[in-house]
Amino acid sequence: MKKVKFLIILFFIFGFYDILNAKKENVCIECHLETGEESLMKPVEEWRKSVHSENGISCHHCHGGDPNDEDIAMAPEAGFIGVPEYEEIPEFCGKCHIGVKENYLKSAHGKTLPDGPNCVTCHTAHNQKKAGVYLINKELCSQCHSYERAEKIKFALLSTEKTISSLSKRIDNLWTNGFDAEQMRKMLFATKNSFRRLTHIVEVDYILQRTGDIYSELGKVENEVKEKEEILKNRNIVGAFIVIFLLISALLFDKLRKELIKKT
Ligand code: HEC
Ligand code: HEC
Ligand code: HEC
Ligand code: HEC
Ligand code: HEC
Repeated sequence: MKKVKFLIILFFIFGFYDILNAKKENVCIECHLETGEESLMKPVEEWRKSVHSENGISCHHCHGGDPNDEDIAMAPEAGFIGVPEYEEIPEFCGKCHIGVKENYLKSAHGKTLPDGPNCVTCHTAHNQKKAGVYLINKELCSQCHSYERAEKIKFALLSTEKTISSLSKRIDNLWTNGFDAEQMRKMLFATKNSFRRLTHIVEVDYILQRTGDIYSELGKVENEVKEKEEILKNRNIVGAFIVIFLLISALLFDKLRKELIKKT
């Protein structure tokens, strides 16, 4: 009985704590919404739909400032950096996305700033979504040049992505059947990451060559998957034999029993 009371009290404490926390947003969001000004409210609304919001990355993580103190929230002393210039955006986003920034700065896009697109051109400033090959599309990529080179890159990336997702399904299936999938998952994850990192280089020949390398990495993963699938197949065959054996035994036993009953 004591335990139950204790649990009920705990539930209330944490329940209220959660409700309080969910209601209380940081001062950046509160004040921007209170101003009623479209240009200050819009970033909040957009941000709420983003991967950053989902992952706990808020206004101050990008813009700096103090999200807890209304009076100094946007003071330079509190680290507020405001709105970056077009050319500054790669550094601005790149403080967290370091690998992407490095590849981007080496690319024709990074080198031709401000003619080239920056992170926000392709990902938006406040409503970044989970990235994928879908971002390479005619509407976006033919704003400044023809679509032809973009399409070649897209084709290479898409076929690799297909291979990766089908391997991933096969590994999941092995895992459901009790195989240790940890190692294979790690290998696939590493290959997937190095593959996705290619995109920002936007150099057709280089990407085609690296796609070749990645296919041979994927080949290694596939061999391991095949090996385990073979074991699984054999296990299923043995399993089927055992079931058949048991069925036949049961039938024979039943027949024997009936005959014994007849005799007595
Ligand atoms: C007390 C209200 C208030 C708080 C708190 C507040 N802001 Fe603002 N913010 C404003 C107003 C008003 C403007 C527009 C006028 C200006 O730039 O000062 C603005 C403008 C901005 C701009 C655009 C600046 C520019 O140069 O165009 C950014 C970015 C920004 N806020 C981010 C933040 C962040 C991040 C926080 C929290 C760390 C924050 N704000 C907290 C009221 C607030
Ligand atoms: C992922 C980083 C990131 C986050 C998180 C973020 N911002 Fe921004 N914000 C930017 C960038 C980049 C720009 C400049 C956009 C441009 O140049 O087109 C910007 C611009 C702004 C502006 C200027 C007006 C505009 O729309 O360009 C305001 C105001 C602003 N942000 C407020 C906020 C507030 C409030 C939050 C929190 C709800 C927030 N931002 C969260 C990256 C971010
Ligand atoms: C304070 C660190 C931080 C800053 C600054 C930041 N991000 Fe992010 N970003 C994250 C985290 C954390 C995630 C979610 C985990 C992940 O997917 O990497 C994320 C996810 C993303 C994703 C989705 C990644 C995926 O796997 O599909 C994109 C796209 C993205 N950010 C773009 C941007 C852009 C553009 C900017 C600048 C306007 C920016 N980020 C600034 C931390 C940051
Ligand atoms: C020309 C358009 C374009 C520009 C410019 C661009 N990206 Fe991307 N980004 C993409 C595409 C397309 C993908 C999807 C790649 C994939 O899934 O194969 C992507 C993927 C991502 C991812 C998820 C993949 C990963 O490796 O983590 C992040 C994070 C990201 N971009 C951040 C940024 C940042 C930060 C910048 C600026 C330094 C930037 N992007 C500039 C088009 C762009
Ligand atoms: C804001 C303008 C702009 C947008 C939008 C843009 N690009 Fe570019 N792109 C450039 C500039 C500038 C260059 C360098 C000059 C050239 O080669 O045309 C370039 C070059 C390229 C190159 C050649 C790179 C090399 O090293 O040979 C490829 C491939 C490319 N872009 C792909 C894309 C893709 C894919 C997208 C869409 C996701 C895209 N671009 C969107 C401006 C843009």
